Amino acid sequence: MKTIAIVGSPRKEGNCDILVNELVEKLEGDKKIYYLDELDMNYCEACQKCQTGPCVQNDDLNKVVTEMMEADLFIFSSPIYYGQMTAQAKTLIDRFYQVSQNPDKSLEGTKVVQIYTQANPTEAFDGYIESMKNMPFGYMGMEVIDTVVARGAMGKGENDQLASAIEEIEKIGNDLL
Ligand SMILES: Cc1cc2nc3c(=O)[nH]c(=O)nc-3n(C[C@H](O)[C@H](O)[C@H](O)COP(=O)(O)O)c2cc1C
Repeated sequence: MKTIAIVGSPRKEGNCDILVNELVEKLEGDKKIYYLDELDMNYCEACQKCQTGPCVQNDDLNKVVTEMMEADLFIFSSPIYYGQMTAQAKTLIDRFYQVSQNPDKSLEGTKVVQIYTQANPTEAFDGYIESMKNMPFGYMGMEVIDTVVARGAMGKGENDQLASAIEEIEKIGNDLL
């Protein structure tokens, strides 16, 4: 199994980082974690050139998207920022355009585990998180097989708050073996 994981938080050793590593460590096969904030990332310019050729951006996100097309599993993680994913995570998602616009490219059938972290202890953002299953992932033909939300986690590695998320991740990891 080939797994590509992304940490959509700018915080190294933060909550997304902890949870993503927890899951990736459990998995077998070829696996790689990308820390988006450390990458050379450009925005989709909507130039439409990807309809007939490669994406015009010459940056690390092209590498991530290309590797995602060969992966069986995509682990997406982001803290909730103002009720949504981070700008880093959204920049990657917008670069899926080179796949959806080009009939020679596909992310169809890729399984997705999504992981979110948030300070708010309630289910306030669950509607948004649920909507991600359809857009962007379902739209791309990807299948969200599991979603983990660590609520009430503000500081880095607040393990009490992360504990139930880690338990869920252990179960997901076992199911994927
Ligand atoms: C710019 C910014 C915006 C945030 N907005 C929210 C928010 O809308 N709701 C929330 O519950 N937490 C919000 N938070 C808190 C983070 O989601 C929370 O600390 C999360 O656990 C961070 O994950 P990380 O350690 O992986 O970076 C925000 C944090 C920052 C820096």
